[in-house]
Amino acid sequence: MNQLNSHALTHQDSAPKGLLQGGLITRARNPFWLAPMAGVTDVCYRQLMDEMGAGVLISELISAKGLLYKSGKTRKMIAIHPRPGTLVGVQLFGEAAEDIIEASQHAKEAGAAFIDINLGCPVKKVIKKGCGAALMRDPANLETYLVRIKRGIDLPLTVKMRTGWSHEELTIHECVKAAYNAGCEWAAIHGRTRAQKYEGTADWDLIAQVKQRAKLPIIGNGDIRNARQARSLLVESGVDAVMIGRGALRNPWIFQECLGHHENVPGESYALLVRYLELLRSQYDLHNTHILLRKFAAWLVFGYPGAAAFRGGMYRLLTVDELMQSAREFFDKVAHLPRPQFEYSEVFMTGGHG
Ligand SMILES: Cc1cc2nc3c(=O)[nH]c(=O)nc-3n(C[C@H](O)[C@H](O)[C@H](O)COP(=O)(O)O)c2cc1C
Repeated sequence: MNQLNSHALTHQDSAPKGLLQGGLITRARNPFWLAPMAGVTDVCYRQLMDEMGAGVLISELISAKGLLYKSGKTRKMIAIHPRPGTLVGVQLFGEAAEDIIEASQHAKEAGAAFIDINLGCPVKKVIKKGCGAALMRDPANLETYLVRIKRGIDLPLTVKMRTGWSHEELTIHECVKAAYNAGCEWAAIHGRTRAQKYEGTADWDLIAQVKQRAKLPIIGNGDIRNARQARSLLVESGVDAVMIGRGALRNPWIFQECLGHHENVPGESYALLVRYLELLRSQYDLHNTHILLRKFAAWLVFGYPGAAAFRGGMYRLLTVDELMQSAREFFDKVAHLPRPQFEYSEVFMTGGHG
């Protein structure tokens, strides 16, 4: 483990107030972070993963313009849970630096510890506006954009990128340099190009090369499916922290496992579902609670015998109570089995925003 990530493990509360560039990471609880995921990492899911020990938490990508012009739903997306145990950031995207600057003020008021800019989204709607991964095509322009944002906000600034637009346009080294020059605290890298979307595998060799050259902390991301792999990629690539996305959906205990804290407890899946329900009820109406709970339950049962039938059956259950009853019966039946592994060969959720 390199110096910075061991720092992150031990110095959470002792960081000085006026942090120098690259100092924010010393306030991370540990080097195993939850990746931002649209439609997933809302305030409830972030609180749940905070309770599960994730090192840093980031909202899903939020349109800066949306935040400025549509109050209700978008405003809710920046909510930060009370008394977080670690850093919680808000991820923004937007064409105009001015919109990001104004939106950052709202994020600050909501309690965000930092602003993360999405430079990795491959989705057409975002790309068409010159945002997401499109910003990686012109590193000089990216630097100007980030400098303007950095000057205008009074929260630390971070970025999350891909490795470039395509294999022919691997601009990652230049974009990391632009982020450093602009005063960013770290660069998180999903080791795929925009053209790859979610195909192929994340290029951890390239992430390791970037880390060797970079002057700011590098966070590695892509395809981590279990705690053993997270720990070994952290050490082998030399990155300062790793981010886990889909692996945490299938195994929300992954952060505890990374830290060597987790012991299997009978009934833990159902208990986690109960806790998530409690959090959802505090934020959403019954309809949305039901939808989000169903999604979470579907991830939790993956890999167990009977999971497909359970998932199919869930759509016929009309109330949250029925869903909870059915989940309890399901987890009772599989309680004697080891938790299923998320296999490398499995294709799972390939439509994200970064
Ligand atoms: C459903 C879903 C939504 C995502 N949304 C975002 C997002 O809002 N912002 C972002 O930077 N990345 C987003 N991503 C990308 C993830 O943060 C991560 O980079 C990617 O999934 C690779 O990591 P993993 O293999 O650990 O999942 C999303 C991914 C998924 C699967």
